[in-house]
Amino acid sequence: MKFYELTPQQRRDFLEQEGYATHNDARLLRLTPLLREYAADGMIENQVGIMGIPIGLLMGLEVNGKTYNVPMATEEPSVVAGACAGAKIARENGGVDSALWPVRVIPADIVFQKVPVSRQEEYAKIVLSHKKDMIQVMKENMPTLTRHNGGIEGMSCDPVARGKFWKVRLWIWTGQAMGANIANRLSEIEAKYLESVLGLKPLAAILSNAELEAVWSGLKIDPDTLATKEESGMEVAQKIAALSQWAELDDTRAVTHNKGIMNGVVACALANGNDTRAVEASAHWYAARWGRYKPLSTWKIEEENGKTILHGKLAMPMPVGRIGFSIKTLGTPELCQRILGAADLWEMQEVFGAVGLVQNLAALKSIATEGIVEGHVKLRSYNLARAAGAQGDEIAKVTERMLHHPKRTVRQAEIMLSHLRAEKGGESAGDSEKEGEEDE
Ligand code: MEV
Repeated sequence: MKFYELTPQQRRDFLEQEGYATHNDARLLRLTPLLREYAADGMIENQVGIMGIPIGLLMGLEVNGKTYNVPMATEEPSVVAGACAGAKIARENGGVDSALWPVRVIPADIVFQKVPVSRQEEYAKIVLSHKKDMIQVMKENMPTLTRHNGGIEGMSCDPVARGKFWKVRLWIWTGQAMGANIANRLSEIEAKYLESVLGLKPLAAILSNAELEAVWSGLKIDPDTLATKEESGMEVAQKIAALSQWAELDDTRAVTHNKGIMNGVVACALANGNDTRAVEASAHWYAARWGRYKPLSTWKIEEENGKTILHGKLAMPMPVGRIGFSIKTLGTPELCQRILGAADLWEMQEVFGAVGLVQNLAALKSIATEGIVEGHVKLRSYNLARAAGAQGDEIAKVTERMLHHPKRTVRQAEIMLSHLRAEKGGESAGDSEKEGEEDE
């Protein structure tokens, strides 16, 4: 049986049997949500409830020669299935290569208003000559960060809009943490210190989500591996390359192309307890960093060693962390990290980049061939058949009937299952309607 054909409990048993999860982790997955009310109340304000989001597994994603099962948290049907389909193509083609460059340092700005252009150079000299003292201030106020070798890696002084604003930019290394809180705290401390040195009152001290570090992921595909029943692999590859070119030339397409990438990346970030808004904000800034909004990935037909290939490349920031308050408090992220099995933050970022690329590949292939809706409808009909309790060959039969029915709900699938069983003279499932099920 395929992984997706198992029940959730059978999937957890499989993870345990194959050594992808410990017995305790498999049990914890079943018991989710791991978040207790008192912890939730301590996390946010005015807490009145806890919301569940399904976690699915992207099975068998090969990145840099290692195979990962990647937990993804998403409310959107087809995202995990799409990622699995993209990962399968990647596996057939030697996997995704991913690397990070340059090293991640978080920018944080201490910004001043109305600093005359004529005095900016002088102020910049003063600030830069106090770098050692600023590091000393950091050591005294943030000893844990210093102990972990984190902190100020670089500094610059830059005018904004011809002196309307003038800012001191700190580049901060935060190790395995996503680092937003560290960067904000450190910049606030240094802002106070600079106020005393310069005699100028800063307007603000705040991190910037404009991150320059990016994960670079690449995948070279033999077009034959893209063939469908209707079309040759080369035809599909050419259409994927054309869709990519469209996104490069049309920013209104680029944003949807990127949304498809974020489907995968954000699902990974969420499962691992990260700030998904930071991931989104930095990605869209990066996409527009040259003044025009661009796709975060490209797909091109290329010649390599006398062979025609489809070459996919993705570059995007990946501001996530492996340690931090939310990750610890939520509980599930640490569990997801154990299942993912990345050795450190950098490996995790490389895997997330690869997920973005294969997610994008699956979406483009779907658009280029059967169309997104057709694929979604098939998948949804299959999921509904299973949710209604269809077993064995009933699954395919109920799925087929659901495909042609205008109302796709669990209730409808249950009615169809009961009809099917009645036709076969078997028992009826008519009474097993699930309350409160959704409509399309
Ligand atoms: C849907 O969530 C994402 C897609 O629209 C992405 C794309 O168009 O490339 C399918």
